[in-house]
Amino acid sequence: MKLDIFTLFPEAFEWFQSQRPVRNALAGGSELNFVNYRDSTPLPAGQVDDAPYGGGAGMVLRVDVVDAALNAAYADRADPRVVLLSPTGRMLDDALVRELAAEPHLALLCGRYEGFDQRVHVHLADDQVSIGRYVLAGGELAAMVLADAVIRKLPGALGHTDSAVEESFSEALDGAPEYPHYTRPAEYRGWKVPDILLSGDHGRVREWRLEQSRLRAAGSD
Ligand code: 6GU
Repeated sequence: MKLDIFTLFPEAFEWFQSQRPVRNALAGGSELNFVNYRDSTPLPAGQVDDAPYGGGAGMVLRVDVVDAALNAAYADRADPRVVLLSPTGRMLDDALVRELAAEPHLALLCGRYEGFDQRVHVHLADDQVSIGRYVLAGGELAAMVLADAVIRKLPGALGHTDSAVEESFSEALDGAPEYPHYTRPAEYRGWKVPDILLSGDHGRVREWRLEQSRLRAAGSD
């Protein structure tokens, strides 16, 4: 996968890029690029935003600035699927993450200030995605959430190839949360690991896990 992140703050992604799943994905042939709107703005002095028509608080990212950044990055606009991060977008869930992870090329547009000129939403983006019903100061954290969730679905991103198959909300668990995990010690301050996990009976362990996953889905955990 090729993943391009458009942002005014590429430095915000430094820690994210250093994470193991991201490095694994890059070592496996995926690409992660950053594009700063300021580097291609057609306006003087690196200007990228402007006051809203009709008045009101805050600044709005200009459509000509975003268009110039996309044009500078891509000779062919049909190339990537362009996803704009916005609190008013489609709610991110495992199904959407899987859909995006299947794309060969994604562009994520991060906004700041009051957001993008509406014409960016309508004419330049293919999708608008939100990570929850609250407002963040910018799209960067949302883009990292999306990129993290997408990248860990890519083959080889996780050390153990099955880790992303049977996890919370996956098809393998019928969309239910994942079962609980335990490790040593088998007993700590009187808190015991369920006996079945120590039994060595893989069939019964499997049944127990699926049952726990169903119970969590039913809201009893
Ligand atoms: Cl995608 N962006 C911003 N700025 N705030 C959000 C969001 C996105 N999703 C939830 N809140």
